[in-house]
Amino acid sequence: MLAPMQGLTNRALRGLFIERVRPDVVFTEFVRVKASTKKNITENDRREVVSTVAGVPLVVQLIGTDTEALLAAAGTVQELGAAHLNINLGCPYGRMTSQTAGGALLREPFALARMLEALRREIRGSFSVKVRSGFDDPAQIFSLLTLFADSGIDFLVVHPRTVKQLYSGAADHGITGEVVRQTPLPVIANGDIFSAAIGQRVLAETGAAGLMLGRGAIADPLLFERLRGRCPGESTAAGKVDELREYLQELLARYQALFCGEHQILCKMKEVLCHVHDPEVLPLARQLKRSKSLAQFRELTADN
Ligand SMILES: Cc1cc2nc3c(=O)[nH]c(=O)nc-3n(C[C@H](O)[C@H](O)[C@H](O)COP(=O)(O)O)c2cc1C
Repeated sequence: MLAPMQGLTNRALRGLFIERVRPDVVFTEFVRVKASTKKNITENDRREVVSTVAGVPLVVQLIGTDTEALLAAAGTVQELGAAHLNINLGCPYGRMTSQTAGGALLREPFALARMLEALRREIRGSFSVKVRSGFDDPAQIFSLLTLFADSGIDFLVVHPRTVKQLYSGAADHGITGEVVRQTPLPVIANGDIFSAAIGQRVLAETGAAGLMLGRGAIADPLLFERLRGRCPGESTAAGKVDELREYLQELLARYQALFCGEHQILCKMKEVLCHVHDPEVLPLARQLKRSKSLAQFRELTADN
């Protein structure tokens, strides 16, 4: 699965992934649900949720604090055509945690149980939860497993870091494996899967039903194909540079069709480059991040 990533997994980027590497499932960026039940989803989010491409399931992820508003939003996105919904129980940032949305919902398990049960009754297709291992205690997830199974969700995506941890330390897939053993729900492992070798090891060691790829796939979309054994586990240095150029050329064309204005398009391209850390492509990535114009960016991605 391609992870939901705010600022990144918009319909243009998802379309590229579907055409090039066809993830089994893709997610929207989180759709923020405001507390009022009327007009609680932005126009852009409404456009996001209608898009499905080439038969790859699109999971619409909701984030919010108010059950009534989330129910109304679930109803709206289903009317617009969404078949699969997910609730974010992991976001560690700002307003989301101060308003008891995202990862902060983990601090109120009784309210969370009621919210999940209500959403389950409203959602006709698949309903899943994406969760961190706890708010501040990495073992908290084990106390939530009965709640998740009883609420009737279809699968669980586990990112085994606490909310408080943000992105520090390593994702502890020992926790993922223990969750797999303790719950009847299918578990998707997420977190720090930056290479095919890591992904295969996480699958083997946890017994998870599947993997969700975030930053690793944004840096290298071929990670999906590498994991399936359809591409070498790692390309040569020259191959990596060519792959990055080709990926960015295609993404740029798609971003020019979706976003407006040189500045916005350039910023969106640079957001992708923030996740490129492979030393063999880093010099190119750094040059691209310094580009002052789309013409310059395009020139740097052009084949030599
Ligand atoms: C820039 C960025 C945006 C993210 N946006 C979301 C989001 O909208 N919803 C969500 O559930 N997780 C979001 N995440 C978390 C990722 O989906 C994923 O759980 C996390 O990055 C760990 O996976 P990875 O190590 O494969 O990147 C975001 C992460 C990053 C770095």
